[in-house]
Amino acid sequence: RLDVTETFHNIMFPGHMHTKDSLNYAINFQFQDTDTVIVTYPKSGTTWMQEIITLVLGKGDPTIAQTQPNWARAPWLEQYYCVDVLKASTGPRIITTHLPYHLLAEALQDSKAKVIYVARNLKDVLVSYYHFHKMANFLPDPGTFSDFLNDFLKGAVHYGSWFDHVNGWTSHTKDIHNFLYITYEEMCKDLHVSVQKVSRFLQCNLTEDELMLAQKHCSFNSMKENTMVNYTLIPQEIMDHSKGKFMRKGKVGDWKNTFTEEQSRLVDDVYSSQMTDSSLLFKWE
Ligand code: PPS
Repeated sequence: RLDVTETFHNIMFPGHMHTKDSLNYAINFQFQDTDTVIVTYPKSGTTWMQEIITLVLGKGDPTIAQTQPNWARAPWLEQYYCVDVLKASTGPRIITTHLPYHLLAEALQDSKAKVIYVARNLKDVLVSYYHFHKMANFLPDPGTFSDFLNDFLKGAVHYGSWFDHVNGWTSHTKDIHNFLYITYEEMCKDLHVSVQKVSRFLQCNLTEDELMLAQKHCSFNSMKENTMVNYTLIPQEIMDHSKGKFMRKGKVGDWKNTFTEEQSRLVDDVYSSQMTDSSLLFKWE
């Protein structure tokens, strides 16, 4: 296992799930054209997309979503158990990853795997990640929100810099054969259209009734109650549910309840300076 001070390509990863071997396995992975790959920076809508894809492939039937934990049906490529999950899998694979583009670029070269990138406003990511650090015992103590904000802006957090992640993936959309970019915000704004967008991308067209079913089972309220995705199956010593909930608020703009005006301005400044070359224009609330 990676210990707390160890990094991989200068990025910190939680040691309980990652090893040097598992990370090397990920960057040398042989993607199949039938793979669907969910790519996110942490706290950007990963679990939500895992659920949406499961429901889309099941044409709205919630059986798999309600009987298999998300990590077993859409394992994280870089986590040590992935190899065994994929060995045992039969149907088309759903693979999740938080890795930045530059670490997967080679593995994805010439691949026709379907890549779905979910992005979320960094201010909401920051707040969500901060709360997650408090409940997840495998992550370091984040200190005050202000401490965490400074670490985050420097990229000195697990999985690295949000800016590198979003810039890296969104500036290479043309290098990936099948790429869908979607935001957490548009999923919140119109889940129906978002589920439809995903289903079209996966070439899995659903009837209106099937779409409605899928939408119902991936709503925040349904997922909050679903033990297969709300992480309550994880032992207390790994995730302390007395300190917070994984399915915390599920809202856009919750950052306003935490950020001071000064912190908001600081993030805006860093955002404008780091995103100048971004090929995508972000307009966050
Ligand atoms: S992780 O740890 O990286 O896998 O986390 P991730 O799943 O990417 O992000 C967790 C946040 O997503 C929210 N979430 C949802 N929001 C709206 N609707 C649905 N269905 C949904 N499912 C998960 C979850 O509540 C976390 O956000 P916050 O802001 O903390 O509530």
